[in-house]
Amino acid sequence: MGKLLYVKAAGELVTLEGEERLRTGDNGPRTGEAMSQLGIIRGGSIIARDGEIVFAGADEEALEFLGGCSGETETVDARGMVVTPGLVDPHTHLVYAGSREEELEQRLQGDTYLQILQRGGGILSTARRTAEAAEDELFAEAYARLNQFLLHGVTTLEAKSGYGLTPEAELKQLRVARRLDERHAIDVVSTFMGAHAVPPSFHGNTDGYVRQVVEEMLPAVAAAGLAEYCDVFCERGVFDLAQSERILRAAAALGFRLKVHADEIAAGFGGAGLAARVGAVSAEHLLKTSPEDRARLAQSGTVAVLLPGTALFLMEQAADARAMIAEGVAVALSTDCNPGSSPTVSMPFIMNAACLTMRMTPAEALTASTFNAACAIGREKQIGSLRPGKQADLTLFAADNYRKLQYHYGMNLVHTVIKKGRVVVSGGVLVQGE
Ligand code: NIG
Ligand code: FE
Repeated sequence: MGKLLYVKAAGELVTLEGEERLRTGDNGPRTGEAMSQLGIIRGGSIIARDGEIVFAGADEEALEFLGGCSGETETVDARGMVVTPGLVDPHTHLVYAGSREEELEQRLQGDTYLQILQRGGGILSTARRTAEAAEDELFAEAYARLNQFLLHGVTTLEAKSGYGLTPEAELKQLRVARRLDERHAIDVVSTFMGAHAVPPSFHGNTDGYVRQVVEEMLPAVAAAGLAEYCDVFCERGVFDLAQSERILRAAAALGFRLKVHADEIAAGFGGAGLAARVGAVSAEHLLKTSPEDRARLAQSGTVAVLLPGTALFLMEQAADARAMIAEGVAVALSTDCNPGSSPTVSMPFIMNAACLTMRMTPAEALTASTFNAACAIGREKQIGSLRPGKQADLTLFAADNYRKLQYHYGMNLVHTVIKKGRVVVSGGVLVQGE
């Protein structure tokens, strides 16, 4: 029998397993009012064994539970802290080389994101750097980035390819993501996003590139088993609705689950409606989604992954989270970590931005960064809430109530991180691996 981990008497244990959830047994993404039901247990404790939660509840009962167990117990004192499920980041472009700080200055002087891309910068400049980088260099850069994610309380994230844009380079990026998943404490869920930009070799021939994605890349990625999801940058001047749909349908036929970068730049372009129509698990960005397409998302149960950091960094108006929540769309949050439109690893800051730029409440922001984020990557059975049988992924914040996570904005209050029952961050510092 493995060692026990006892997380003792949190100021607030935020289980995300409220009474309503327990009464209905509903395990789908939380919508409307249910996004505010955090299932808080004051003075609550968690006991984990072999990486799995075996007890979640009042500390007196935890002590009784421990009385019936033999063997070694490691205790983490959580008194005065907020304990939440490990944060989940469902949309990142984790694996890339270099940085693009000069583009911030260009945009501050009036250039737009798409203008920079159209003159060969933006995604294409990161693609050049990523193509030149050796696999080991990409691994080292992304591994360091994952350490930063961990220090900000993230225990699972999704990682998209899309800085390769050739069959070999896309596979290279995905191999790196797989190795990171194997070697790093954070679980990495992979998404193939060959349709992230049109490479210069196909300039003026987007259909030709779409053919290559469909006929060469998707089958190669599927054969190598390197990605679970397929995503497309559905946007005016990038991949239009018909091209996006061709790729997504081909991906679905090969067994990929679907995601769509939708309505980020052009108003009412229709990416969210497409996501709903093809049965995508999530539609992401949604800055300019039409009311009709919002209704389609609510109807299809497609999770809206909102990226308020990206809106802020692109100096755009954030997505209409209030309308989405009022209309029954399940909302999740993410960093969109990438070197162009959102160079951050901080889910705590993203939650701050969700409150301050989209008027989400602190409770909704937490649901959107844990349980609903897990739903956006199909992991809601394993992670995203705290109850027996789920993975023991926990984040402990140096705050005595969850509202302070959004009140002290721009600060990292993450104190301790536990991944599969193992303490990986303690006192705000990484614990070295075995
Ligand atoms: O999600 N919109 C497209 N892709 C990324 C940006 C990638 C980049 O600029 O390097 C995004 O914002
Ligand atoms: Fe993105």
